[in-house]
Amino acid sequence: MHHDDSRSETVTLRIHRFAPRPQRDRDRARGGSPFARKSSPFGDSGSRSARRTRGKQWVQDYQLEVRPDDTLLDCLLTIKREVDPTLAFRYSCGHGMCGSDAVAVNGTPTLLCKAKVRDWIQQLPGAAHDDEGFRRTGDVDDEAQPGTPKHPVDAPSGGTIELAPLPGFPVQRDLIADIDSMLEQITRLKPYLIADGTLATTVDGKVDVFEYLQKPEQLAQYETLTTCITCGVCEGACPVYAGGEAFIGPAALINQARFVNDSRDMATAQRLEAIDSADGIQACQSVRACSRECPVGIDVGEEIWQLIAKVKEREV
Ligand code: SF4
Ligand code: FES
Repeated sequence: MHHDDSRSETVTLRIHRFAPRPQRDRDRARGGSPFARKSSPFGDSGSRSARRTRGKQWVQDYQLEVRPDDTLLDCLLTIKREVDPTLAFRYSCGHGMCGSDAVAVNGTPTLLCKAKVRDWIQQLPGAAHDDEGFRRTGDVDDEAQPGTPKHPVDAPSGGTIELAPLPGFPVQRDLIADIDSMLEQITRLKPYLIADGTLATTVDGKVDVFEYLQKPEQLAQYETLTTCITCGVCEGACPVYAGGEAFIGPAALINQARFVNDSRDMATAQRLEAIDSADGIQACQSVRACSRECPVGIDVGEEIWQLIAKVKEREV
């Protein structure tokens, strides 16, 4: 069937907005030291809610002429430029490389720049695809690519897409989540190669190559994990992490697995020890929602499962 993807349609973007209280009101409300922090083995993994900023929340609808192949980032940029310059969202690369634009679309964490209107538009139940390629509610492929909708809800005709900040993180403003807790947890786990410092030398003792050499099959053990863009989508999809439990979260565990699986890294024992705690890998309930949403296709749940096996092996 021929689809004319240039045809536009009016869509409602239903956006969950948030404006923080001015800083001086926040300082007054806090009433104590601005440096006070709750403590936990992973610093903030159990105190994400403590960072929550107070402010005003509301839901705002924007009607927009869009094409099926427009991304949700395209839509937000149009709103920002032509309709409402106060709308706040974060993005950088615009094509799935930087991981800065994760939000919840129709309740599912995904990247704005990878999400196409055609895949997320929702209409009244029972409607089908039209000839122009717009997807209708109830018409969701089981074999959908990562990032396609899985939670359609009722919506007025004309089509609605609901956008909210990434679950599991405090909101800074509108669609911008504060992901510092995730980045701090990753940093705490030493996200760099800890090699033994022995470089290949020539017969006369000079350094031959400033590289730690590795066979292709050794690289294959962790190469996929290096593609993680630290977007936090897996964390937002995880019912344990996004549910507010004390949990270091799947993104930090994937980062740790990347080095545990690297033959050049000499800190495996310390790395496994570091995550073996009640709010570390023990908090993972193997729900595997993290795998369904990863925009780069890492099977997050399976990787964590293998990491759990390594932690257990070391205990016997
Ligand atoms: S594992 Fe995937 S979903 Fe999780 S932070 Fe990395 S790229 Fe994002
Ligand atoms: S803007 Fe960089 S991943 Fe979407």
